[in-house]
Amino acid sequence: MASPAFIDHDYDVVVVGAGGAGLRATFGAVAEGLKTACLTKVFPTRSHTVAAQGGVGAALGNMAEDKWEWHMYDTVKGSDWLGDQDAIEYMCREAIPAVHELEHFGVPFSRTEDGRIYQRPFGGHMRNFGEAPVQRACAAADRTGHAILHTLYQQSLKYKAKFFIEFFALDLIMEDGACRGVVAWNLDDGTLHRFRGHQTILATGGYGRTYFSCTSAHTCTGDGNAMVARAGLPLQDMEFVQFHPTGIYGAGCLITEGARGEGGYLTNAAGERFMERYAPNAKDLASRDVVSRAMTMEIREGRGVGKDSDHIFLHLEHLGGDVLHKRLPGITETARVFSGVDATKDPIPVLPTVHYNMGGIPTNYMGEVINPTRDDPDAIVPGLMAVGECASVSVHGANRLGTNSLLDLVVFGRAAAKRCAQTIQPGTGHAPLPKDAGARGVARLERLRTANGARLTSAIRLDMQKAMQTDAAVFRTAESLSQGVKSVDAIAETVADIKVADRSLVFNTDLVEALELENLLACAKATVYSAEARKESRGAHAREDYPDRDDATWMKHSLAWVDPDTGKTTLDYRPVHTYTLTKDVAYIAPQKRVY
Ligand code: FUM
Repeated sequence: MASPAFIDHDYDVVVVGAGGAGLRATFGAVAEGLKTACLTKVFPTRSHTVAAQGGVGAALGNMAEDKWEWHMYDTVKGSDWLGDQDAIEYMCREAIPAVHELEHFGVPFSRTEDGRIYQRPFGGHMRNFGEAPVQRACAAADRTGHAILHTLYQQSLKYKAKFFIEFFALDLIMEDGACRGVVAWNLDDGTLHRFRGHQTILATGGYGRTYFSCTSAHTCTGDGNAMVARAGLPLQDMEFVQFHPTGIYGAGCLITEGARGEGGYLTNAAGERFMERYAPNAKDLASRDVVSRAMTMEIREGRGVGKDSDHIFLHLEHLGGDVLHKRLPGITETARVFSGVDATKDPIPVLPTVHYNMGGIPTNYMGEVINPTRDDPDAIVPGLMAVGECASVSVHGANRLGTNSLLDLVVFGRAAAKRCAQTIQPGTGHAPLPKDAGARGVARLERLRTANGARLTSAIRLDMQKAMQTDAAVFRTAESLSQGVKSVDAIAETVADIKVADRSLVFNTDLVEALELENLLACAKATVYSAEARKESRGAHAREDYPDRDDATWMKHSLAWVDPDTGKTTLDYRPVHTYTLTKDVAYIAPQKRVY
């Protein structure tokens, strides 16, 4: 291709991604008077937020006494002390106004008899600093993400936000360590675009599709994370991959934890409610890492159900048709379609399934991306922000509590918009872009568009997904992880032999998948390298050879750089924030976890 002809656009703020975080940031910035563009590779209401089910966490206290300080304690404990406590304080405090704001925006929450927002129990959410489960998950039946995403999109339309739909972001435009915008490909007509922004906000979601079995949409391919890696910036805590206890066996679709919140429970082949042995207090509502490990142990020790003893049963039948219809209609249908089970009569076959990436692009609690220097572990990258699952704020640390993801989206989407308002004077002019701005991104597009090797994208992707599923699983060892490093490196090499059959630039999904595969591979590398190096067990990172948490050595964030030219992955670390945001809240010192 001759030197590409770009269509250039100037905005105050450029948002990439239109899930919950991207939409909240987009119309928030518009509401602040900033000229804002939102680019998205799928139509906004098809973003993966739509799949979130059980609820958004906030200590509203609608069902029983609750306090945001208890929510903060649970989140710190759930993070296994890898979360940054200033950010956790911010999120849990802001949760209450954020949910009320959603209510006023029009989210159709389920209601209590007296008309307040209905809240259900969820794993790890407890009253009075760990005493007993509390009802904190604000729910719209079991379609909370769907309800929130559609409402946020409607708000964006109300604010007349400018969308560029089915635009695939290729790369950040960087100059002297600062972000100047993004280069993107319009899938609809094949044109190439450069968007200049005083702030670029990445809201591109997770990278669950690095694994074979996951609850994530096919679009969760770590595009923002990989753009950051290609810009020479680090990814943080990528080894912490959350397995949700109840993915449907064989299909991977999510069965909400809200099902256990409503009284569902797990059994093994002997019909035993085994969680009572592993977590005598919280039982089936222990945090996800704990439940996923317990299920895996049961299966490994021969107590799994089914003809191959390789899964577990989730019982909802005792709840009765009325409760299932009113509170859990979505998963009742999902169970019928994807496992052929009538949940009012029979248990649902389930298995721990990859669900969420705690790690991602390091940011502070205002959404500004961090690139640590020797002198400043919290140094920011001018012009670049990240929110939602692609970011590592870090409020989830080593393990996220259910319902804190929807919360993270709205709280930090809003925080990012506010930070833009503080730092950008609306309509400020842009300096000219460097001559070669966008060229690298387009060169990559061209390399893949014209690739004429022997291996299909789908075959390389499957190799990666199987390697990740086997070698970076619920339980990990030095052996499995060093095999994972070798396998992922070798698989990444095979991209040199990739074949893309469609040469066009218009809706070339073959090419989109090849670009996404490279993005996934960068995330997979950062994950296995960081996991191999972390010689302890913490949160979702369970090392059989290092079963204990080692705060003295490992209470620090991992940083991984994946060199875009050589593929070499290097690691370093930065301190966890062991301080709170305000003086009136005490730092929660590490404790041994008791379930
Ligand atoms: O189980 C669920 O409904 C998932 C919620 C979450 O991941 O926050």
